[in-house]
Amino acid sequence: MCGIVGYTGNEQAAPILLDGLKRLEYRGYDSAGLAVRDGGALAEVVKATGKLQHLADKTDQGRALPGMCGIGHTRWATHGGPSMVNAHPHVSGNCSGSGSGTVESDVVGVHNGIIENFSELKEKLLRHGYVFYSDTDTEVVVKLVDYYYKKYKIGPVDAITRTMVRVRGSYALALMFKDYPNEIFAARKDSPLIIGTAENASFLASDVPAILKYTRSVYYIDNLQVARVSPGSVKFYDLNGDEVTLPLTEITWDAAAAEKSGYEHFMLKEIHEQPAAVRDTLNSIIKDGDIVLTETGLTDEVIRSLSQIDIVACGSAWHVGMAAQYVIEDLAKLPVRVELASEFRYRSAPMPENTLVIVISQSGETADSLAALRVAKERGALTLAVVNVIGSTIAREADHVLYTLAGPEIAVATTKAYSAQLAAMDALAVRMALARGQISREEYGHLIEELGTIPDKIRRILEDKERLQWFSSKIANAHDIFFIGRGLDYAISLEGSLKMKEISYIHSEAYAAGELKHGTISLIERGTLVVGVLTQSGLYEKTVSNMMECKSRGAYLMGVTTNGNFDVEDSVNFAVYVPRTDEHFVSSLAVVPLQLLGYYTSVSRGLDVDKPRNLAKSVTVE
Ligand code: AGP
Repeated sequence: MCGIVGYTGNEQAAPILLDGLKRLEYRGYDSAGLAVRDGGALAEVVKATGKLQHLADKTDQGRALPGMCGIGHTRWATHGGPSMVNAHPHVSGNCSGSGSGTVESDVVGVHNGIIENFSELKEKLLRHGYVFYSDTDTEVVVKLVDYYYKKYKIGPVDAITRTMVRVRGSYALALMFKDYPNEIFAARKDSPLIIGTAENASFLASDVPAILKYTRSVYYIDNLQVARVSPGSVKFYDLNGDEVTLPLTEITWDAAAAEKSGYEHFMLKEIHEQPAAVRDTLNSIIKDGDIVLTETGLTDEVIRSLSQIDIVACGSAWHVGMAAQYVIEDLAKLPVRVELASEFRYRSAPMPENTLVIVISQSGETADSLAALRVAKERGALTLAVVNVIGSTIAREADHVLYTLAGPEIAVATTKAYSAQLAAMDALAVRMALARGQISREEYGHLIEELGTIPDKIRRILEDKERLQWFSSKIANAHDIFFIGRGLDYAISLEGSLKMKEISYIHSEAYAAGELKHGTISLIERGTLVVGVLTQSGLYEKTVSNMMECKSRGAYLMGVTTNGNFDVEDSVNFAVYVPRTDEHFVSSLAVVPLQLLGYYTSVSRGLDVDKPRNLAKSVTVE
């Protein structure tokens, strides 16, 4: 995700801003920028693509930017690719170029989040004479603040609250106004932002690490609040513009803990970022109750012309494909093949005309998946990339791209990117079902509503993780763990097993529950843990029977099922429940306890959860 910093006080701002941005590098970025005001009407805006060092060099480590009030930003591209023009800060003036240099704009700002209705707002501003130089939603929101500020002459706080009422989406904003040269104004909805104070100085940041060196006294600005930040003091306002009071919190974390926002590992932090990752990904394609895929090139006409879908990926991304296969086939009645990328290229399978090949990849740089993409294109298939890193090689080489908005994922074991991919594929399946006349508009609306409940249901699961932590400590010395399920539950079992083995180093396998009796059940011994995924009501009894076959041979059973299936406790030794939802989408919920099981087991074994042995975050070799 993007990183925001701000400073106003009695020291030079630029070096402090650069230092803060450096401590936010773990959030991932592809460009960066600063805006500093030296007490007057002019602001100096400097941007750079690539590593933060480029910006530091460009500003002589900040020394070339005099002034004691400024804002800074590292950008993780969402709307608009990584470029100087799209880098923040953005300005309200109708300037040409990249919006950098010495600017006299009334408003200069940085933003973290996604403005969903930025297109309609941009149209509105164009009609009022505004000119745009970037592709970003941020430039739109900065100019919208300027619009209200000029039109109603109501001051920064009211211009910002009017903007907040008008925009839809998520944002953490830090804005400077020409008429208020020593102050910074901030606003927040769903994206993180904190405000720190010290003697004669105040700080803004997306996360604690950026300001921990300067102060431990911070305010956590609430959703839909505005802050007016002056040197050493802050005022807060609600959406009505009425002043409100917030408690001052003392941060007790050390610097290392702070990068993980207080979580012990990046993996646990990213597991907890899943509600936001799924929400942001769905919100990027669901507009006013409709799944809009035009940016992916998949028009309804193209979807109707498809004869088959090949999903190609590696590891957890392949598991997403395995889950998506069941959902697309059931909803859209379209044949789906799921192939390991490293095998896809060796098949001579005929590729029927109008085949769509979907390559799923978090990094967008996995060599096997890239090679498979190139083979698919050589064979004349239409290709769609579902990737998390904007501008990655797979995204650039595919015919079309659907970005997941999980933000940068640091832990080697994927969690939030996996969940974001799953949500994206579920939404794709629903749109395909409508386009191919397999579901009614009413069913379509219901399914979209169900998708919208997933983030909060994931959040509810995460609120009850202590039982899994306890159970993980009991199984930490297991030698073999089997994950079984049927249909979508089998696909989830695959991911549960990979999470377990890749970070706890315990041997684990996932099996289609019906397959156990064809050989593998010979491995079941006294105490062998068998985890059964039981979310598909039509397959529940059969999988329970398979689990009982294992229990009769000494296995210890854990069951993951939906709320209400409490009879499972007559069969298993340990039951975990997830909220009920449409069974096409319940895999997004069932995977969360399995992620936590793997995580806590690895922690119980004292292993390096974020950087497991032998593994890399992106496998760029074949
Ligand atoms: C998953 O936890 C692993 N890190 C690994 O299987 C990963 O999913 C696989 O290497 C594919 O990576 P990609 O999504 O970046 O292509």
